[in-house]
Amino acid sequence: MAEDLKITATNKQEKYLELIPQIKALMEVESDMTANMANICAALKYGMNFFWVGFYLVKDNQLVLGPFQGPVACTRIHKGKGVCGASWERGEVIIVEDVDRFPGHIACSSLSKSEIVLPIYNSKKEIIGVLDVDSDEYACFDKTDEKYLSEILDLFVKNP
Ligand code: SME
Repeated sequence: MAEDLKITATNKQEKYLELIPQIKALMEVESDMTANMANICAALKYGMNFFWVGFYLVKDNQLVLGPFQGPVACTRIHKGKGVCGASWERGEVIIVEDVDRFPGHIACSSLSKSEIVLPIYNSKKEIIGVLDVDSDEYACFDKTDEKYLSEILDLFVKNP
């Protein structure tokens, strides 16, 4: 495998366009779900320079912390709680420009200012977890992130 990811772009969309084929290549040679989640976290954290990137996985009707990159985080989130639990309950992508203005936001780090959470569906259309990405800047995430992070999750679910 490549020794490291190569990102030369400065613009967000171009960074994703450089990163996605490299993530795809990593997942084509590995079928283990945990290994692939771990590499997605590292690729997004260091390729996109996000503050925190991680997976929460549905276990016993809670979201339980899975592979992540960034500061230590809360380990369990109930359905409907925080941005992650809300995304799970609604089955929707949630983009939060200012975490302090999202009722019930769970602050794992006071440095986190904005956030995007995407539900992850399996082939039976059940939600198996969420991908949570945090930034230390306000309003970091928009439809561009939603589009490319969804593409990355599609790659991942095709290689579960
Ligand atoms: N902020 C999330 C909790 C997870 S941490 O950001 C890592 C939430 O409100 O669900």
